[in-house]
Amino acid sequence: MSNRETQFAWNYHNRTKHSYESVRRNAHFLDWDNHPLPFKIYPDLEPIALPKETPQTGIAALSAISAAQASSPRSPDLETLTHVLYFSAGITKRRQSPGGEILFRAAACTGALYEIELYLVCGRLADLAAGVYHFGPGDLALRRLREGDFRGALGCGAPAALVASGVYWRNAWKYQARTYRHFGWDNGTIHANLLAVAAALGFEARLRCGFVDSDVNPLLAVDTDREVALTILELGPPAPPPGSIEAAPLQLEVVPYSREEVDYPAMREIHQASSLAFAEEVLAWRGEAPPAPPPPAGETIALQPLADSEIPRDTIEEVILRRGSTRRFAREPITFAQLSTILDRATRGVPADFGTGLNDLYLIANAVEGLAPGAYFYRSSDRSLETLKRGDFRRQAAYLGLEQELPGDAAAAVFFLSDLPRVLDGFGNRGYRAVNLEAGLLGGKMYLAAYAQRLGATGLTFYDDEVVNFFAPHAAGKSAIFLVALGHAAKRRS
Ligand SMILES: Cc1cc2nc3c(=O)[nH]c(=O)nc-3n(C[C@H](O)[C@H](O)[C@H](O)COP(=O)(O)O)c2cc1C
Repeated sequence: MSNRETQFAWNYHNRTKHSYESVRRNAHFLDWDNHPLPFKIYPDLEPIALPKETPQTGIAALSAISAAQASSPRSPDLETLTHVLYFSAGITKRRQSPGGEILFRAAACTGALYEIELYLVCGRLADLAAGVYHFGPGDLALRRLREGDFRGALGCGAPAALVASGVYWRNAWKYQARTYRHFGWDNGTIHANLLAVAAALGFEARLRCGFVDSDVNPLLAVDTDREVALTILELGPPAPPPGSIEAAPLQLEVVPYSREEVDYPAMREIHQASSLAFAEEVLAWRGEAPPAPPPPAGETIALQPLADSEIPRDTIEEVILRRGSTRRFAREPITFAQLSTILDRATRGVPADFGTGLNDLYLIANAVEGLAPGAYFYRSSDRSLETLKRGDFRRQAAYLGLEQELPGDAAAAVFFLSDLPRVLDGFGNRGYRAVNLEAGLLGGKMYLAAYAQRLGATGLTFYDDEVVNFFAPHAAGKSAIFLVALGHAAKRRS
């Protein structure tokens, strides 16, 4: 099984598609008595409490999410790391529900199941010893798993790196084998926040999807049948990595997530098939830049985003604390400037080793002042919308979003589609991790860009093939990856 045998990504993708029939065929039910814990808890490790209050950056959210990477000598310390961790994976809201209290986090996550864990791997920082640490959002604390400088195992010479992992069962409890897609989406929304907050603090950040899996997983001491490393985010100025030191096996007790866990082997298979075994494979895995889109067949409408001097000044922290997925949209229009600002700010690039442009954006505009209702293709090369068809597609948008009202009521729905043959050809199976991650990351930026303008947003799941059929013939041969609905939130029903 190798990264280049892309039938594994195709098998996984095809067998986890949703369709009208598959949803009705699936007898899965939610076993609330077996609901997984949303935290990884090490009962035997001492917490290192993090500061509860950190200074605000004062940087406008719309600037932070679209900031170009500049070289900066700034190095993280405990306070700035806390800021980055809290505003990406910290608990920002608590709400009572019939099943108990739900602890909502800074970034959106499928089913509020929060299956992504963050680990810090650092050299000696001003106020923290070199080591490998786990971030616990439950008590806002770090726990040290290893003492010493292990950055060499990550091929990272930056002062600090955040490694994100996914815990299968914590999401598969509800979503079964489709969880492997969710790893990308849910890690992506966290990284939208991580990158924005890092930029607001003036840190250089570089996201890597390519690394030798068998070097990173043992460092975190995870049982790879249940939890796997997904990405590495380097923070601070780059430097040659220190020499590798042996990471001895650790036996760390973890509180069980549930009474019992169900294994979905299809996920372990796609993970294994998308693993990179050697440093040479990491260098070789990167693909080509995306081709320019073909000339438009229909009319194009240039985006009209707000200028820097016009954007709302709400800070990145204010916007993250305000964010929450919109549970019901009002059927009220947004302006074309608001939609343009979201698209423009969310698509200005990501400092990632897979480049950009793995996903293409297609829209259904239901109610956008200055834009006729219809279906559009977003031409990122010239920041314009190409008209595919005009008409009222609210009913179809709701149907495509797994028969949920949200995308039908929203002002606009943005569908992420990918030319998967090209992506898998360029990146191998690892491209499947990257394409879902990029979608979550851009979706996460859209959440922030919407909330910065006092609009609402929600991520959504969808009927895979029907999305492609709706946007055909333009989207023929592509695959549906993700969906985000945007608009005004409806007033809460009392
Ligand atoms: C990738 C993704 C897919 C989602 N899909 C749906 C969905 O299909 N339906 C829905 O009502 N909410 C969906 N949500 C919203 C989540 O339920 C929500 O993020 C979670 O409950 C946490 O709440 P919060 O976003 O308000 O913090 C999705 C969120 C994400 C990030």
